[in-house]
Amino acid sequence: MNNTQIHSAVAVLRQGGLVAIPTETVYGLGADASNPQAAEKIFAAKGRPADHPLIVHIAGANQMSRWASQVTPLAQKLASLYWPGPLTLILNRHASVSKAVTGGLDTIALRVPAHPLCLSLLKEFAGGIAAPSANRFGGVSPTTAAHVREELGEKVDLILDGGACTVGIESTIVDARGDIPRILRPGAITAEMLQADQTSAQGEVERFPGQHASHYAPKAQVLLVEREALEETCKHALAQGLRTALLNQTSQELGDQVLRLELSNNPEIMARDLYAKLRLADALKVERVLAVLPEDLGLGRAIRDRLVRAAGPKN
Ligand code: TXA
Ligand code: MG
Repeated sequence: MNNTQIHSAVAVLRQGGLVAIPTETVYGLGADASNPQAAEKIFAAKGRPADHPLIVHIAGANQMSRWASQVTPLAQKLASLYWPGPLTLILNRHASVSKAVTGGLDTIALRVPAHPLCLSLLKEFAGGIAAPSANRFGGVSPTTAAHVREELGEKVDLILDGGACTVGIESTIVDARGDIPRILRPGAITAEMLQADQTSAQGEVERFPGQHASHYAPKAQVLLVEREALEETCKHALAQGLRTALLNQTSQELGDQVLRLELSNNPEIMARDLYAKLRLADALKVERVLAVLPEDLGLGRAIRDRLVRAAGPKN
């Protein structure tokens, strides 16, 4: 592991600077969570509204009580089952936590990421790192250091390159304040794994995650289509003169005017590669991306969630 890089990152964090951090899900834009001025820089860099709460990344479950006023038995249990890992727990905020980090909320989001470089940084820093995904607000989350450089390069003091993210979509967010887990954002720790009552996660209040219709969206328009309607929709888009791409495992006969953004049907690989493909669509100046939704099961549910939001109306 690169010790010099970690020492530089710790120095930047201590000085109140911004460090892009690799995690197993997506890259984060990190700042010292105990420094409100540093946290504010995150909002400025992302162009993100100040009332959007950040996730605080910690080195281990034993640090939860530093950030949460009450660590519930449910939180203890989920942490012991799934941390380090792609799971974020919502708990009541400790009185000492700055509201700059929690977007004015009385709750806090905590996560121990399963990425060796990130964990080494967290241990060395010995504090919490507040970090949203390292993209401009509403855009596609970065899954490589190069993505971060392209999008936020000049706004970040240091980018820790930990390779390509292995999970590829953001963590599952679970409200762990009660007795049963309530999923606020689906992810790789699935409802089946959590044995959560999915229906209770519907109709959440304002500031909870993913309330914006358009999120995780590329510049290209994303259109969700049934597999059977793919060919027809594609021909229609081409007839409209739109530069069109298919985001799928595409074997259909659709001519060579259509770009193929090959994406595996295997949900793990699909999640891992999804955002890179959406970025590729933009790099290729694609105007319309046609995507078929995966099955609404396990990890497929999280991929559907991101695709539906990528296709959401932009304001
Ligand atoms: O996988 C991930 O979660 C990545 C990596 C970097 O850890 N982070 C990430 O952060 O996706 P971000 O900011 O892009 O999304 C975090 C979500 C936001 O939608 C925010 O509203 C929600 O977490 N959140 C944070 N604190 C919350 C709280 N106290 N209550 C409810 N939702 C919260
Ligand atoms: Mg984000």
